[in-house]
Amino acid sequence: MGRAKQSSARRSADFVAERLAGFEPRVAIVLGSGLGALADAVEHPVVIPYAEVPEMPEATVYGHAGEFIAGELGGVQVLLQKGRLHLYEGHDPDAVVLAVRSFAELGIETLIVTNAAGGINRTFPVPALMLIADHINLMFRSPLTGLVWPGEERFPDMSSPYEPALRTMAERVALESGILLHEGVYAGVLGPNFETPAEVRMLERLGADAVGMSTVPEVIVARARGMRVLGISIITNLAAGISPTPLDHDEVMEAGKAVAHDLEVLVRGVVSQIGTGA
Ligand code: HPA
Repeated sequence: MGRAKQSSARRSADFVAERLAGFEPRVAIVLGSGLGALADAVEHPVVIPYAEVPEMPEATVYGHAGEFIAGELGGVQVLLQKGRLHLYEGHDPDAVVLAVRSFAELGIETLIVTNAAGGINRTFPVPALMLIADHINLMFRSPLTGLVWPGEERFPDMSSPYEPALRTMAERVALESGILLHEGVYAGVLGPNFETPAEVRMLERLGADAVGMSTVPEVIVARARGMRVLGISIITNLAAGISPTPLDHDEVMEAGKAVAHDLEVLVRGVVSQIGTGA
């Protein structure tokens, strides 16, 4: 099973590498719901639809196109995943993280994950950008169960999942660009229903500042592969019970667009600093 799993990531990575024709991305970026606009900022894009990538399942969520985009951002070669896969779509954890395993196989050492999340911290405005300081896995699943993949650890350390140096870099870019960047703990839940007010009160007491349905599986695998991770949440709505109105997926997507420009400036700034060897 371990070998079969490894060859699936290798096969998709080999295919992507072939399409990249010598292009060597240094940073991989996973785009969250409604955040696809960042892909438009990529120069000289090479688009690789999931449908053409061996082993890659299709993304099923409205608003998630399902393609890899290689190109340049801030003068640095990057590989974007536009349209991530979620556990709530019914994919198993290995499918959800296949892209991240492929990034690792391609030799990419830095992963930037973005997502849409509901705001729990009552000081957060909407929309807002939140640097993920840490996470709580309430999905009750891990992509690391089963045989250990070659190149991964059985018991990866998770005491610093979001790299402090990258967070500092993001804070500096935000300050220099006049972007208000909040910071907090992301609670990852399975979904796909939004939370109840009682669940949000529980999450608040557990120490979560935001809640979403993604990111945690990808970050766990990235850490098991020794990649360094930066995570940014777009707070698209107040979480249930804190919000005076019912939650709506379309509003989540619209709110994402409202801060898309700030996200682009932030990610581009961080990527270009990584490119200068920072
Ligand atoms: N809860 C969970 N996931 C989300 C939310 C939310 O309120 N908003 C955007 N993604």
